[in-house]
Amino acid sequence: MATDPKCRLRLTILLSGRGSTLANLLERIGRGGLSGTRVVQVISSRGEAGGLAIAREAQIPTQVVSPKAFDHIDAFSAALALAIGKTPTDLVLMAGFLSLWRIPPAWAGRVLNIHPSLLPAFGGRGLYGRRVHEAVLRAGVAESGCSVHVADNEYDHGPVVARRRVPVQPGDTPETLGARVQAAERELYPAVLERIAARGLEWIDEAVAAGGVEL
Ligand code: GRF
Repeated sequence: MATDPKCRLRLTILLSGRGSTLANLLERIGRGGLSGTRVVQVISSRGEAGGLAIAREAQIPTQVVSPKAFDHIDAFSAALALAIGKTPTDLVLMAGFLSLWRIPPAWAGRVLNIHPSLLPAFGGRGLYGRRVHEAVLRAGVAESGCSVHVADNEYDHGPVVARRRVPVQPGDTPETLGARVQAAERELYPAVLERIAARGLEWIDEAVAAGGVEL
């Protein structure tokens, strides 16, 4: 991990949209939380992503790597890995990153994603945002939540590191359930990062070995 004692965990954030997860992390860091953690760069798969403006405002270097510029997922993945490598990074966080990429061996186990369901339920291609909560309500389950997982080469698929549960309440709409899950997400990613900053990247492997921890 980083040698600067004030910064033990250097994050590269991958996003495609509004950047609400990025905004939450920057807000935590700005308030003095997440000590030892720094967002060192933000990479977007879309040039018009709102998250880029949030990063620029915070004077964080940005890059755009669009899958549309490549004719094969391997070329896109290689370009993304190159972009990540431009700035020394300990951990890559996907934060509303909607493009599938093939994670190179050098980054295996060191790319995390957050998903608004209790994985492996309600994850996979096409299950993002409001669609997740609609599917949860259609299924009539009693609880939902969010999961931080190690990203692999399938959508929302790698092993779960940590999860936070929320109840599904009578009369819930995708919006009310989504707001409850999002509030849980706002706590879960920072809680995971606090543990990694304190105990090292190995904590990820320990949490996975435990089947994912409840935070
Ligand atoms: C996160 O809340 C998470 O559920 C999912 O994408 C959301 C962030 O999207 N992975 P956005 O950047 O706010 O559009």
